[in-house]
Amino acid sequence: MELLCIQSQEHPELPRAELNAVIECENLQSEVEVIAEGLVLLKNISQENLDEYYQILTRRLGYTHEVHQIIKKSNIEDFEPDILSIDWQDYIDENFAVRLKRFDSQVDTVAIERKAGSLILQKTEDIKVNLSKPKTLVRLVAFQDIIYIAIEKYHLNKKHFEDIKPHKRPFFYPGSMSPKLARCMVNLSRVTEGQLVLDPFCGTGGILIEAGLIGCKVAGSDINWKMKNGTAINLEYCGIKDYRTFHLDVRELKMYEKVAGVVTDPPYGISTSTGDIEGDEIFKEFFRSIYDNMADDAYLSMASPHYVDLNPMMDEVGFELVEQYSIKMHRSLTRIISVIRKS
Ligand SMILES: C[S@@+](CC[C@H](N)C(=O)[O-])C[C@H]1O[C@@H](n2cnc3c(N)ncnc32)[C@H](O)[C@@H]1O
Repeated sequence: MELLCIQSQEHPELPRAELNAVIECENLQSEVEVIAEGLVLLKNISQENLDEYYQILTRRLGYTHEVHQIIKKSNIEDFEPDILSIDWQDYIDENFAVRLKRFDSQVDTVAIERKAGSLILQKTEDIKVNLSKPKTLVRLVAFQDIIYIAIEKYHLNKKHFEDIKPHKRPFFYPGSMSPKLARCMVNLSRVTEGQLVLDPFCGTGGILIEAGLIGCKVAGSDINWKMKNGTAINLEYCGIKDYRTFHLDVRELKMYEKVAGVVTDPPYGISTSTGDIEGDEIFKEFFRSIYDNMADDAYLSMASPHYVDLNPMMDEVGFELVEQYSIKMHRSLTRIISVIRKS
């Protein structure tokens, strides 16, 4: 069986890196084929694993927009007979809409959608078209001459990433990253449901919200008590119950249990207060302090500005770099996302 992922194209690497990290930590048995930027196929999934894998992906991923179960791989020539060969009654619940998405293809979107819709109606009884709120989405994906015929069984909640934007939370303070990037960074740390995730610079709690929503236990600390309290307010607002927050300087960190993942956005730039720690020293102090609080197989996923060289600091403490990505913020700032573990 195969699943087709339609991914965001807002970054050339992060959506795939996030998917790979989830496949790795959830131990999903599948082969990954990149068809085009924004289009990834997960192949060789056994029938018995399909539903579980499908649900894990839709529950976790931030930079993937849609996941679909492929019913048939067709092409422009065989499209009609292929659509007619499918037992649509098995896939469609009451009503449906057909939507086509093109990748490097010139096919006529509206004509193909209409054609497929009328052929499906021909083949079925008691099933209607509902374009505004379909119960079943028949997703066609055209890539060059290929047309993937697929069905959306589990919907990825993209609305969440809009609804939970920093300024829409009850406690707001400027400087929180986008929920999608926060979710991606949580996934890059390879944590799974029930494991403990720590953000020692938790601010308004943006990262912990995303970790909590995928079922992790979360702990946050901040040197600023208003932030510590604000994180708790925001976590409660999102219905996250399994959390602890602490008011402390990162240098004093001593966790009650070793954490399975650290995901964080340390302070930098002139607008954030770092106590009495100056410049790059905050990163050094953070590495020194976090090491002993992490389980041996834990990952650290963090953001930093491009002008801070993390390598000598990692070496000093005994960390190694696993993967690294850059996101251009504006002319003078590139944000670096690093995934790190104990060497
Ligand atoms: C970039 S913000 C984190 C933003 C956060 N990800 C969010 O969603 O709001 C950095 C945070 O680090 C905190 N901080 C600064 N110096 C610290 C220190 N020495 N120990 C602990 N927290 C510190 C600041 O109070 C600030 O809330």
